[in-house]
Parts: sequence; C-alpha cells; structure tokens
Amino acid sequence: MAMQGPESNTPAGVTLAHISDPHLPLPVKVPLREVLNKRLLGLLSWRTKRHRRHRPEILARLVADMQGHAPDLIMVSGDLTNLGLESEYRAARHWLDALGDASRVMTIPGNHEALVAGAWDKGAAQWQPYWQGDAVSGAPDLSRAFPVLRRRGALALIGVSSAVVSPLGFAVGEVGAAQRERLAALLRQTREEGLFRLLMIHHPPLPGTVSPRKHLRDHAEFCALLEREGVELVLHGHSHRSHHQMLPTCDGPAPVIGVPSASSMHHEPAAYHLYRIAPGHGGWQVTLRARRLGSDQTIEAGRCESLAISRRHAA
Ligand SMILES: [Fe+2]
Repeated sequence: MAMQGPESNTPAGVTLAHISDPHLPLPVKVPLREVLNKRLLGLLSWRTKRHRRHRPEILARLVADMQGHAPDLIMVSGDLTNLGLESEYRAARHWLDALGDASRVMTIPGNHEALVAGAWDKGAAQWQPYWQGDAVSGAPDLSRAFPVLRRRGALALIGVSSAVVSPLGFAVGEVGAAQRERLAALLRQTREEGLFRLLMIHHPPLPGTVSPRKHLRDHAEFCALLEREGVELVLHGHSHRSHHQMLPTCDGPAPVIGVPSASSMHHEPAAYHLYRIAPGHGGWQVTLRARRLGSDQTIEAGRCESLAISRRHAA
C-alpha cells in the first residue's frame, strides 16, 4: 500500500466521509418509566463515566473539520444514541439534519439504537430519510427494510442492519438469514451493473475484532456471503478503535475498515475517515485519510493509504 497525499480532484471520483459512534449526550431529564428496564444500567453507566468519555465539543470539532473537506457523501455507521430513547432519536435527527441533506447523508442503526425491544421501531421513523434506500417511499416494513441500496454514480451504497436486542451485559449484533439472503441478491445485482459496492454495517464483521460479548453473532455466515458474492469496501464502527483488515472475496481482496468513535478519546483519538474513490487500476483507486483530534485539541492528519481495488466487473 503506497502512501499518498491529499486527494486529487479527479472529476469522476467521489469524496466520502465515514464517521461513527458519536453517542450524542443524553438529555438532562430522563423519564423514570422509560428506564425501568435494561436501560437503567446504561443510564448509570452514562451518568458515572460515559458522559466524560463522549464529549460533544470533540464531536463538533471533528464535524467542522469534516465539513471543511466538503465530502460528497457522509456515512454514519450507528450508535448515535446511548439508550435508544425517543428524545435521543429526536436530538440525533437534528444532528443528522445539520450534517447535510439526507440524499448525501446515510446512516444505519447500532446496538445502542436497539437497546430494548421496540426502541429502533420508534426511532426508525424519525431517521427514515437518512437510512432508507432509493426505492422506499412511505413507511417501510422494518422487518424487511434492510439491506438498503443507494446508487450514487458508480457507487452502490449498501446499508446493513446488525442492530438486535442483546442479553444484559452484551452488545452483540446479528444480520440474520433473511437479510443475508436479500443482501446476496443485491450484491449480485450491483456487480452486474458494474458498481463499486460499499457496504456499511455497525458491528465489525471479521472474527476476533471485538470480544464475543460485542461481536457479530453470525459473522461466519456473513463473511462467507461476502466472500462468495464479493464486495469492494466494508466500513464499520462499534469498537471505538481503528481497524484495517482485508477480506478475500471471489472478486478480489476487499478492505474492511473500522473508524474510532467521533466523540471519545478513551480508547484512541476521536477520528473520522475521508475516502476518495475514483476509477483506476482495472477497477478503482481508494485513498483513505484519517482525521483525528490531536493532543493540542486541533484536528490532525492520521493514517493515510492508497488501495488499488482491481475488479473485472468495473464499468
Ligand atoms: Fe456499538
């Protein structure tokens, strides 16, 4: 992987930002009746330690830097909330609105959006413009809503939901057999169209990336599907750490890249990723630049790399 400087302004290319796990602040007042369940532990955790880790001023600095780069597309890979409360969904909707028009901002739910049964069902309606695919109009059947597909030029932006209710003390995810089946068809279809298939999922798909307490339960089946149907780039969050891995697929190796939380310095510096995706090298050239909060509280350049994604199906 060769090092590379700032993106070139290739007319055919696209600049895309990936940001994750902002965990926006909880409202000051949380109705007791809404937390007399599994949320109570989450509320205690927020009040005792997590509110010090996830700082809105850090998030605001990163977002300002990101907007300064004027990305064509912004991908938000879940965990915008903490307890999946309706008031949190409302606040997150305002945050999404401030990021940009829903046609260029795309999100998916994380495990915190599905902390208790029914939480995501209520929140999904509030965020619908930001997670829905091109084909949806009206209220979708949430049990079949994912994966979603947005076509943007040569890109197929595919959103997968791994948000499921976990047992107490767990933060697992699951794609599920039915969603995997729909995803397989979608990956085949978009390959036939010659598109660059960018898949976004909250949980890291590769085994061992996070502990079994937080992992994707059906990672074996999910990775086998990606290997069989192919994909060009997988983006995820959840671990609050950077991950740069490769997944072998039938079409060639695909980068699987995780971004840290955009509001926390706890595990590693808060960061977001900027991608430039352009035709090249018998497929696509992908340049990744990490932007992170430095110790002097300014945004600095982090890891930078260029990846050649060779694909026979590239249009
Ligand atoms: Fe998460």
